[in-house]
Amino acid sequence: MEIQKIGVIGAGVMGVGVAQALAQTGHQVVLIDISDEVLGRSEQEIRNNLRFQGLFSKERAEDPEKVLGQIAFTTDYQMLGDVDFVVENVVEKWDVKKEVYIQTDRICPPQSVLAANTSCISITRIGSATNRPDKVIGMHFMNPVPMKNTTEVIRGHHTSDETVETAKTFLSQMGKECIVVNDSPGFVSNRVLMLTINEAVFLVHEQVASPREIDDIFKSCFGHKMGPLETADLIGLDTILYSVEVLHESFSDSKYRPCPLLRRMVDAGLHGRKSGEGFYQY
Ligand SMILES: NC(=O)c1ccc[n+]([C@@H]2O[C@H](COP(=O)([O-])OP(=O)(O)OC[C@H]3O[C@@H](n4cnc5c(N)ncnc54)[C@H](O)[C@@H]3O)[C@@H](O)[C@H]2O)c1
Repeated sequence: MEIQKIGVIGAGVMGVGVAQALAQTGHQVVLIDISDEVLGRSEQEIRNNLRFQGLFSKERAEDPEKVLGQIAFTTDYQMLGDVDFVVENVVEKWDVKKEVYIQTDRICPPQSVLAANTSCISITRIGSATNRPDKVIGMHFMNPVPMKNTTEVIRGHHTSDETVETAKTFLSQMGKECIVVNDSPGFVSNRVLMLTINEAVFLVHEQVASPREIDDIFKSCFGHKMGPLETADLIGLDTILYSVEVLHESFSDSKYRPCPLLRRMVDAGLHGRKSGEGFYQY
């Protein structure tokens, strides 16, 4: 089955990456966010990414305007009325996502799969907000989406085998591999990663080491490409805080309590790369 027209909801860090990767692999995309201002910024970001990509690799050079021509930027959810597949990337807050799923379920064709690009929220919980829990699946893309080739796919309690197969076809059309796991808040990746990042923030908070020293230990001693605090800045410190809060609430386990420094940085608007400052300056 050819999956041609895709709804991408949320045009932040992840939605922009997903929309770009889909347009570059020949899909028609409807990219939805809540304001024209955000959509204008996302359009410019995709244009800049494609120009940058063209500068560094002649083989991967593409005409930015041609790729952008594949994407309809809109605030109108009714444009999801004829999409084959949806990738949802709105903020990691259950009250926001829940409303998005109720609305999307009402508008999308009944056969369309709804894929949640969530960091930590249970896919079973997301499916429960719709009348098609068998067609709801977790699709945890890695950031930056156009550069990362493997996706964590999560099977919710009611997700059907057919939906898993459709998700695999969809990802292979994007040139991506996947690893399928069962549902649990945070799945595999973020149950481990969010704890690691939160603990690294505690080390800064307790003045055990600086962000640079912590990251250097992971890179020089463990051979990681990035340290936990560089990773946190790339993801967005607001998204990290909301994810740790989801884990804390979901498991009722104090090991997931967010570090006070993380909360303070988010309150101060230090959200990492996307705001220009986090543990490092950009
Ligand atoms: N940042 C990462 O590295 C990363 C990786 C994998 C998954 N995720 C997950 O992807 C999702 C998005 O994260 P992000 O980093 O792109 O966040 P972000 O804050 O950069 O973007 C979220 C976007 O959602 C939009 N939004 C809010 N309410 C909306 C609504 N009702 N309808 C449409 N759009 C709405 C916001 O305007 C914003 O543009 C989250 O669930 C996050 O946990 C993030």
